[in-house]
Amino acid sequence: MAKQKTIFSCQQCGFQSPKWLGRCPDCQQWNTLVEEQPLVSGGHARQQATAAKPQRLAEIDSCEEDRISSGLSEFDRTLGGGVVPGSLILVGGDPGIGKSTLLLQAVDRLAQAGKVLYVTAEESTRQVKLRGARLGVSADQLFLLAETSLEQIKLRIKELKPDFLVIDSIQTIFTNSLESAPGSVSQVRDCAGQLMLQAKGENLPTFLVGHVTKDGSIAGPRVLEHMVDTVLYFEGDPGHPYRILRAVKNRFGSTNEIGVFEMQEQGLREVSNPSELFLAERPEKSAGSVVVPALEGSRPILVELQALVSSSSFGTPQRTAIGIDHKRLALLIAILEKKVELALAGQDIFLNVAGGVRLDEPAVDLGVIAVLASSHLNRVIEPQTVLFGEVGLTGEVRAVSQPELRVKEAARLGFNRCVLPQGSLKNLEAPQGMQLIGINHAGEALDAIFI
Ligand code: TYD
Ligand code: MG
Repeated sequence: MAKQKTIFSCQQCGFQSPKWLGRCPDCQQWNTLVEEQPLVSGGHARQQATAAKPQRLAEIDSCEEDRISSGLSEFDRTLGGGVVPGSLILVGGDPGIGKSTLLLQAVDRLAQAGKVLYVTAEESTRQVKLRGARLGVSADQLFLLAETSLEQIKLRIKELKPDFLVIDSIQTIFTNSLESAPGSVSQVRDCAGQLMLQAKGENLPTFLVGHVTKDGSIAGPRVLEHMVDTVLYFEGDPGHPYRILRAVKNRFGSTNEIGVFEMQEQGLREVSNPSELFLAERPEKSAGSVVVPALEGSRPILVELQALVSSSSFGTPQRTAIGIDHKRLALLIAILEKKVELALAGQDIFLNVAGGVRLDEPAVDLGVIAVLASSHLNRVIEPQTVLFGEVGLTGEVRAVSQPELRVKEAARLGFNRCVLPQGSLKNLEAPQGMQLIGINHAGEALDAIFI
């Protein structure tokens, strides 16, 4: 009898090998290869072979106008303006961050536009109902199904013919066509593949919930990310009530759009004015605090940076950054040492972005420089001053994108001075009551900001 062939696939990235390996040559993780049955050749992909014909670009009708609003405007914004029919949306995030809560609230409103089938593969329908009662979810057209078998789910979809589908979560459902355990890469990929064909074939918008592994990748399915149309990432610090929904991939809109929510007793509340929220508890007259206008997608947000610089009692000083890349922090500290001549070598440095926000933009460099200097020199930064700009390795301050949006948002919240790159001043009109100070070097910023 011929020996049955098996393959070994990496549970992290989906890499496949005919023999077992201790370390995945693709993602370099140890001990992630697991023996699995290969897919039957052809598989479900073949069933979809429809005879598509080439069409002129102009003849294809776009479905841009058909976006369906979920009623949660922060959620719609992140999606790029609403749910596109037939789209497959992956909502990822740490366990317990609020993915199920978010989707339950979103489908409550969607259920007014049509039938919603919410497949709860992790919790019982009673649990979901109890949570729904607390959230005030009462939609008539919302159907719950506690089921983990994909074949069964598909059967129910045929019967019910829903207009929206939610799978919570993709890691707990399985298909009978594979023998591997639910949650393994091949199961997740295959289930998602089948759901994608269904979403496209039947024009059924589908939300997939996915948990995240320790290292931050959506568990197993790196493979999944290019299969779906949109990847939303729900993130936040468990110690803070604020949650940020971020689009990291979007075939129907811009990425890096964010939606801001606050987790409350009665579920998630939309925060339409995040700047006010992030600045609410700002200590106004203390050294080591500054406000920077950062841009998230097309949206300016004012956030507070805090720093603590104190002399270290150990040989190697500590450098800790929360909310900002620590390599970026190391680089800015080196610039401060060499180009602004602050002696930071023997200092412990802690940097925090208040409110649990993550900033990835180089435009906050100047703010980091200022707040480190403020804490080190123990001098208070003018409370009505904001600053932004990218700082280069020679200490020069470079222009950044969208200065007008940043300045406007700062003016709206009552700030009256803005220190910014000279290069960004071109064609920039100062809003009423706002003084703009253009600078070329990081050192100049320090001359302009302290009380
Ligand atoms: P949940 O949506 O179950 O998270 P996920 O699906 O991402 O695993 O949310 C769980 C957390 O949210 C839970 O720890 C408590 C909190 N929570 C509230 O604070 N208020 C609420 O109204 C709800 C429903 C949850
Ligand atoms: Mg959940």
